[in-house]
Amino acid sequence: MAPVLNFQEDFELIAYNSMGLASQAKYFVSVVTIEELKEALSFAETKDFEGLVINMALKGESIVKEDEAHVYLKVNAGENWHKLVLSCVEKGWGGIENLSLIPGSVGASPIQNIGAYGVELKDVFDSLEALDISTRKIRTFSKGECNFGYRNSIFKNELKNKVVITSVTFKLQKNAEPKVDYKALVDLLEDKGIFSPTIKDVSEAVIEVRKSKLPDPAKIGNTGSFFKNPIISIALFEELKKEYKNMPSYKVSNNFVKVPAGWLIEKAGWKGVREGDAGVHAKQALVLVNYGKASGAQIWDLAMRIKASILKEFKIELTPEVNIIS
Ligand code: EPU
Repeated sequence: MAPVLNFQEDFELIAYNSMGLASQAKYFVSVVTIEELKEALSFAETKDFEGLVINMALKGESIVKEDEAHVYLKVNAGENWHKLVLSCVEKGWGGIENLSLIPGSVGASPIQNIGAYGVELKDVFDSLEALDISTRKIRTFSKGECNFGYRNSIFKNELKNKVVITSVTFKLQKNAEPKVDYKALVDLLEDKGIFSPTIKDVSEAVIEVRKSKLPDPAKIGNTGSFFKNPIISIALFEELKKEYKNMPSYKVSNNFVKVPAGWLIEKAGWKGVREGDAGVHAKQALVLVNYGKASGAQIWDLAMRIKASILKEFKIELTPEVNIIS
């Protein structure tokens, strides 16, 4: 029997976006199984209207494979990301502890290959399953097929709006060597006198660093970093270095370096700027915030003026990390 779904009309989405933007969906539905997801997609196709928002609420996880060194954990898309990280840390399964406290769901994590403190999702990724919207068949994607890059994947490009991720399988380590090469992390652990950290120490340190810089979306609306860190040519970097002697950079290849957008935005004078309820976070200039009632258009307008000012001052083009839905 087809599932009976509760389609809600003219639905307020403020509680469903971490930027805290008031916005309405013509229809909204929560789905807890793949059958329900298919049903919701069919509903959307039969209606002539402005849109249906489907909340992926597929829960649960299972070990699909295990050997001496690894656990392969399949997790449904609707599980909370940070809850998953904490439960892996508790069980002693390492690999994702550096990705503690990232807001969002498991199903969203591969879309932009989430990353923080020296680890990216791709480092612990085994495979995923997704429903192909046109054929209504489940497809399995290996790591190679996802084309993971810096905050990027096939799901932001060729397959944008074509598939819905239903589960992700992670390859976790049973005797993990924690990865602590990010300066802010090393400094904090050393301050605490921890020189051979466990995965739990790393998770706790990441949580502390994040809390010190990044606003809690439950209190101040935000989407984490708003722009990607730009990758620029060595030639441009050398030219800028003449004027900005302490401009930080990370080597990408012999010809390119990545520079922190937060540094550029701060240098251009935007850090802590507030216009009405839209602003640039006072502790991390890469994070745009909604203090309450800012609209999507106001945040976007601020973002575009920041982008223009960085282009003018540094000849560097910033690209949003976030996906824009209009
Ligand atoms: N910086 C400034 N001013 C600022 C912010 C940063 O000068 O206002 C400088 C810092 O001093 C440091 C450098 O920029 O030298 C890097 O700053 P930070 O360590 O805070 O990291 P980030 O490059 O701003 C990236 C990710 C974050 C991730 C952290 C830690 C991107 C776009 N952002 O931020 O990811 O948590 O590194 O790994 O790559 C996200 O993607 O949403 C996100 C939060």
